[in-house]
Amino acid sequence: MDELLTVGRVARLTGVSVRTLHHYDEVGLLVPSARTTSGHRAYSAEDVERLREVLAYRRLGFGLREIADLVGDPATDAVAHLRRLRGLLVDRQDRAAAMVAAIDRELAARAMGVTTPQVPLKAFGARLYDAIGSAYPATRRTEPRIAARVWAALGDARTVLNVGAGTGSYEPPDREVTAVEPSAVMRAQRPPGAAPCVAAAAESLPFEDQSFDAAMAFSTIHHWHDPIAGLREMRRVARRVVVFTHDASDTGWRHRFWLTRDYLPEVVDLVADRPSVDQVARAIGAHMEPVLIPWDCADGFFEAHWRRPEAYLDERVRGAVSVWARVGPQAQRRAVETLRDDLASGRWVERNREILALDAAELGLRLLVA
Ligand SMILES: C[S@@+](CC[C@H](N)C(=O)[O-])C[C@H]1O[C@@H](n2cnc3c(N)ncnc32)[C@H](O)[C@@H]1O
Repeated sequence: MDELLTVGRVARLTGVSVRTLHHYDEVGLLVPSARTTSGHRAYSAEDVERLREVLAYRRLGFGLREIADLVGDPATDAVAHLRRLRGLLVDRQDRAAAMVAAIDRELAARAMGVTTPQVPLKAFGARLYDAIGSAYPATRRTEPRIAARVWAALGDARTVLNVGAGTGSYEPPDREVTAVEPSAVMRAQRPPGAAPCVAAAAESLPFEDQSFDAAMAFSTIHHWHDPIAGLREMRRVARRVVVFTHDASDTGWRHRFWLTRDYLPEVVDLVADRPSVDQVARAIGAHMEPVLIPWDCADGFFEAHWRRPEAYLDERVRGAVSVWARVGPQAQRRAVETLRDDLASGRWVERNREILALDAAELGLRLLVA
């Protein structure tokens, strides 16, 4: 029989404290295969291998419950774990390399005296909002009918974490809210008296497991570098998760919305490498509900003016929506000019007559509840 190791020996070998090993045993994550005659924990070589897997997933930001499911899956052997871990790491490496390249470009631009954001804006996530966020409050505010749906989905949650909170438009007024927002520009625009806001990103939430009754994310996951990792974090820190997002698949808003279909096809490239809404829902075991957009939607998000096309001619409306910055000034100019011409000639009405009779439109917006 293989040599069995004491808990102290395993701790020294792996750099994990004895206390942590005891905890992993108590929660069933790593139960040593044997006990010594005096009742002490005794770890086999397989136990140590499993511990290495646990630690690798932990370093990648997975929560303990999730890791228990992953390493406890009898269908995944050591090689499959190594392959999965390698894939996750290569993915991070690619993202880090892309960010380093973007920073190098910006450093080079600054060395040449250019300090304004480069166009088209390649920035992503919080950096994008640090660049465009000051234009946000002009047209972005709570849409009460959609807020009511989100707040109902939160159920009886008393403590709520709002991830990617921005200026806090959808924070329920009658619960104890903690906000998370990585962009300094967005944090600075939170109104006086708004919920406390922590500077952090969804992918690595600085909270203990199960710290909140519910976690919500409104119109933000498409900005995260790793939406699935961020959603897993939400699941880790909260018992219930509520996400408002969009279905960007072919059957969703991409072809359904006249603005993307007829004027701004560049949007397709923006979503090309993003996980689908089905993948997102599966990752957190969520059910999905469609959310119709009222014709007079108060929050000026991208699809909000579907029955008020003239609004898109207004720079303030476009300035508060990241899509327009991300497609770049050339595409923006062309789309706006074509739309202006089509509105003047009656072509837009001709093409979209049927939606003028609707009070609310199904444009792929979804509420995910897990
Ligand atoms: C369209 S705004 C939505 C803000 C707010 N939820 C609302 O509905 O008004 C998207 C927000 O996501 C934030 N964000 C970007 N990357 C993020 C990340 N990795 N984790 C959390 N939030 C992020 C941005 O800084 C921005 O404030």
